[in-house]
Amino acid sequence: MTLPFEVKLAAGADLVEKTLRDLLEPRPLEGELHRPERLLKAMRHGVLNGGKRLRPFLVLETAALFDATDNMAALRVAAALECVHCYSLVHDDLPAMDDDDLRRGQPTVHRAFDEAAAILAGDSLLTYAFDIVSAPETTLPAEAKLILVNRLARASGIGGMAGGQALDLAAEGVQLREDEILRLQAMKTGALIRFACEAGAVIGGASRAETERLGEFGAAIGLAFQLADDLLDLTASSEALGKATGKDAAAGKATLAGLHGIDWTRQQLRGLVAQANEILDPFGERAETLRQAAQFVAEREK
Ligand code: IPE
Ligand code: IPE
Ligand code: MG
Ligand code: MG
Ligand code: MG
Repeated sequence: MTLPFEVKLAAGADLVEKTLRDLLEPRPLEGELHRPERLLKAMRHGVLNGGKRLRPFLVLETAALFDATDNMAALRVAAALECVHCYSLVHDDLPAMDDDDLRRGQPTVHRAFDEAAAILAGDSLLTYAFDIVSAPETTLPAEAKLILVNRLARASGIGGMAGGQALDLAAEGVQLREDEILRLQAMKTGALIRFACEAGAVIGGASRAETERLGEFGAAIGLAFQLADDLLDLTASSEALGKATGKDAAAGKATLAGLHGIDWTRQQLRGLVAQANEILDPFGERAETLRQAAQFVAEREK
């Protein structure tokens, strides 16, 4: 029997949560001199606060497609990706960016601490991600780790998330064309979700073609993910989402939901789920949970 997706996601989130908790203990790692208490608290505030953990879940599920045997290695890579994601949220919420006070139902890191702490917590989470992937405790072949480090860097930096964030801010109050919005969203949100799916393939020792295919799946659901986020910004309550809503239109953000409206966006989401499912065809029954993930991404209510 297929378990409901939410049950599977929650089980994955528990494992990821535990891994993140262990990684954010006060005890310094070998080679670290000291972990400043307030900075660590700010990092923990930005990470251990009840995110959906969808990106790490995708790492675990794509790795499972290839019967990846070392679950700890997959969990560490999954946790590293979540560190990058959480850093991106901590910085996204800063006054210089989206200026938000609420995240995951709690005060944002710069509100609970201060801006300098939020900037440094973000810096430390981003660098920690690469520490986690490359460390000896991540027991994967050195070549696989090098590929993961390189792909994670590309997905996070100027040609990926950070570049997409720059385009997003530059577009405030500017009417972008649809193709420009699609590229912006593929970068700011799609790149990390795509990485999640490719990473599982790399961990599982998949072929190049399989890795590429899962990357395409990630790109399709990554786009759907941001479309749904923009839709929820228009339609959901702040209580349900744990973050402010109605902000995109107010800030003059370039979103497709804003450009084409709610019905168009819902239809587009259905199309993306169909496309994502088709990409998974060659994996057959084994990819059932990933199909559920695509559906969840498009229909999520938070
Ligand atoms: C929010 O991501 C930011 C976007 C990329 C749209 P999530 O909706 O995955 O946030 P959490 O991790 O569950 O809080
Ligand atoms: C943020 O997009 C994407 C990243 C953090 C890279 P949004 O600004 O729409 O995310 P929310 O709505 O604040 O979560
Ligand atoms: Mg933003
Ligand atoms: Mg934001
Ligand atoms: Mg948003």
